[in-house]
Amino acid sequence: MSKTAACPIVTIDGPSGSGKGTISRALARKLGWHLLDSGALYRLVALAGSTAGLARDDVSGHAALARRMGASFKVGPDGGERITLDAQEVTSAIRSEEAGQGASRVAAWPAVREALLARQRAFAEPPGLVADGRDMGTVVFPAADLKIFLTATPRERALRRHKQLKDKGSDVSLPALSREIAERDLRDQTREVAPLKAAPDACVIDSTALSVEAVVQRVLELGAARRLWP
Ligand code: DC
Repeated sequence: MSKTAACPIVTIDGPSGSGKGTISRALARKLGWHLLDSGALYRLVALAGSTAGLARDDVSGHAALARRMGASFKVGPDGGERITLDAQEVTSAIRSEEAGQGASRVAAWPAVREALLARQRAFAEPPGLVADGRDMGTVVFPAADLKIFLTATPRERALRRHKQLKDKGSDVSLPALSREIAERDLRDQTREVAPLKAAPDACVIDSTALSVEAVVQRVLELGAARRLWP
């Protein structure tokens, strides 16, 4: 039986390029559940900070923005995501590599993480939540019903990210991207608060050689075994 019967929660954590975003979206759509893209919240904080002209090291300023920024996640008429920050459309702006680096920087600050906790937990609404991030199973939803830790080799993750950015018209070289991913991994794994690591009770899935469908299928089997769905 579900531990949080009113709102079952599946957490999907892992490093960038492991496929978390794609898998989480596919799973949420399949189940008709809500989706929390927590990385987008950190990206929004970084963007809000630069828009407001905050100094890069202004921790309390960024934490205040994390608390009061107006963020909305909607589905557009074409079925794609529409993210706004204080009523400005920022769907593509927050997906740049630069926004990712900014997010990783502000995400290392405990005050910003603390400021985003309540916002993230508010996404847990019936019929259920798929939460995508780095610390979903360890910090934000420690009592989640099913915890997945998704990995892939660094090379595969860089290749996926490269394709994703190229499809969006961004011209980033693969070696530069591999370096940036390695830097970001290191910062995410070694920060003092909520570092990227698998929860002790997480199921680890290596997606290097698996298709999206195969990973979703595996998660569906794990959830069915826990009676989260039929
Ligand atoms: O998943 P993403 O690439 O959108 O995440 C952007 C950055 O935000 C990532 O480098 C680490 C940080 N992050 C985090 O620290 N905790 C989360 N739950 C989600 C993202």
